[in-house]
Amino acid sequence: MARIAYPIIILNFKNYDQTVGKKGLYLSKIAEEVAKELSVSIAVCPQTVDLRKIAEEVDIPVLAQHVDANDSGSFTGNNLLQAIIETGAVGSLVNHSEHRLKLSDIERIVNKANSLDFFTCVCSNNLQTSKAIAALNPVACAMEPPELIGSGVSVTTQPDLVKDTIKAITDINHNVQPLVGAGVSTNQDVLEAIQLGAKGVLLASGFVKAKDPKEVLLRMAEAIL
Ligand code: G3P
Repeated sequence: MARIAYPIIILNFKNYDQTVGKKGLYLSKIAEEVAKELSVSIAVCPQTVDLRKIAEEVDIPVLAQHVDANDSGSFTGNNLLQAIIETGAVGSLVNHSEHRLKLSDIERIVNKANSLDFFTCVCSNNLQTSKAIAALNPVACAMEPPELIGSGVSVTTQPDLVKDTIKAITDINHNVQPLVGAGVSTNQDVLEAIQLGAKGVLLASGFVKAKDPKEVLLRMAEAIL
């Protein structure tokens, strides 16, 4: 998969005010600077309307926050996979806790994405759903306990859940990169995630809402190194 490497830090911009338009580009440039300064793999997930602009301006992987399962045709308001690819995005989050999908749609998206060499990071909310998702063969599966999302309390405060989930994912399908997210806010959280066996982290508020996002990301990238 072009330009995606592990361990990886994936930054989800969500619909935060701090990521709208030029602010999203500014944060993406910070991510690019840190990725280059420390040679660490960092991807950004800007708001959908900003995908093309940001993909044109930065030389790190740009991912969509969501893609739909439908084919081209008479559908309104969906994120058509082919159209997302055309923006310059190289992959997408799928089934984020804040944008849940049916299992059959996740399967459709993953199959289509795999055939187009398009990166998928499918989110799960616990160990059991992580197993189901691993069986669908996405590139990565990011387990995020919903109650910790945006809480500032890291998923790594539940080390057994993280370890068991990573083992379950790799037992079902060793090709799937196990990631974790929710509440990841500090370099220590990132370090613990990697030490527990994750191939990367998915985070949002700890970066987007930080007083000094570059400083926070630099420390996280150092932890990954
Ligand atoms: O997509 C990442 C996310 O759901 C976790 O959010 O704010 O807890 O890092 P946050």
